[in-house]
Amino acid sequence: MDKLRIRGGVPLSGEIRVSGAKNAALPIMCAALLSAEPLRLTNVPNLRDVATMAKLLGQMGVSANATPGGYTLQAAQISSPLAHYDLVRTMRASVLVLGPLLARCGEAKVSLPGGCAIGLRPVDQHVKGLTAMGAEITMEQGYIVARAPRLRGVRLVMDLVTVTGTENLMMAACLAEGTTVIENAAREPEVVDLANCLVAMGARISGAGTDVISVEGVSALHGCDYTVMPDRIETGTFLAAAAATGGRVRLTGTDGSILDSVLAKLRESGAEIVVGSDTISLSMMRRARSVSLRTSPYPAFPTDMQAQFMALDAVAGGTAVITETIFENRFMHAIELQRLGAEIEISGNTAVVRGVEKLQGATVMATDLRASASLVIAGLVADGDTVIDRIYHLDRGYDAIEVRLSQLGARIERVA
Ligand code: UD1
Repeated sequence: MDKLRIRGGVPLSGEIRVSGAKNAALPIMCAALLSAEPLRLTNVPNLRDVATMAKLLGQMGVSANATPGGYTLQAAQISSPLAHYDLVRTMRASVLVLGPLLARCGEAKVSLPGGCAIGLRPVDQHVKGLTAMGAEITMEQGYIVARAPRLRGVRLVMDLVTVTGTENLMMAACLAEGTTVIENAAREPEVVDLANCLVAMGARISGAGTDVISVEGVSALHGCDYTVMPDRIETGTFLAAAAATGGRVRLTGTDGSILDSVLAKLRESGAEIVVGSDTISLSMMRRARSVSLRTSPYPAFPTDMQAQFMALDAVAGGTAVITETIFENRFMHAIELQRLGAEIEISGNTAVVRGVEKLQGATVMATDLRASASLVIAGLVADGDTVIDRIYHLDRGYDAIEVRLSQLGARIERVA
């Protein structure tokens, strides 16, 4: 199993390009199920989750051809509206095929995702919404089995803000009869990117980016060319790494306007940040100050950046209070950070982080995608060697992170 070995202590310096957004690419790939015509995507990140999604769609009869920087997907016919447990268990986002399959084929059988390291993460809101749209849904041997000759538009009020839940229902509503209104919808930029792609395919959607999304159903969608938005979490991860190491970096191919809460926290920590039209430059000329934060749905601070900021706070001057409100078990990186010398106390969904002058390299274990990223940041600032085991988690969401951090001067290598 691959590991990362990092020799810490080098301030990151230089310029790299940010990848396309994983969490936009995955739902957009599923949108291909809604049309018989080709969807030509560019700026698709080269990630294990993307390859898994292409494989999952392939099992349904979708042709998925990799192109330079992207994929062309065509669901001329759907041979089998089935998502097997084998693939779904490796990637929760697989549940995003449910809405489009049901809308296009009138039936779908999708495995329940099963246990997840960062919490329960149920899909009850997806099921509740589709049921309100007229689907008959049963649970059979670990699978969601859904049927609906044609979904119908209704007014849906989500009990909580769910990103993939909003996306699933928005996609299903595109081919429903009549207008669907999703209230308390997720406002994440990735929801907007999916909506923009669907509109380019002929869907009639308004309100994406607000908490009320309205979708007027049409009888068919057509193909289109679409460029996936930049990854705001990858952007934030590189910026947090640069800040923690006292570095100076310039990121290109990104978008500062979707990172306000993260940039505000980095500025609070003492970083100087300049945002261009598609660039962000950061320099941190002093030891970072501790920053307290609370995760919440967009536009507040993202849960997917919590772990990386815990690593930054671990070496900052002062004490930070980090409150996680989205997932109930998302502090597993704290235990690994403690192995590197971090002073962190956890009580329920709150972590108190007392910054230390130095971390010391050690062998640590990645537990989930963003937890892995926090260990990389900690390794970059620690004295001596840090070895991170189980980095397959990292490969799910970061394209060749060791290559790109090396471009910024980090001493980091992948070892077998
Ligand atoms: C998406 C992101 C993930 C991010 C998360 C929160 C993708 C592919 N993944 O995950 O990176 O961390 O948003 O920003 O876009 N919930 C329910 N019932 C449901 C659905 C969700 O109770 O039917 C709960 C979850 O357990 C969680 C909260 O709602 O506590 C938010 O989850 P949700 O927004 O659905 O996360 P994902 O869409 O899975």
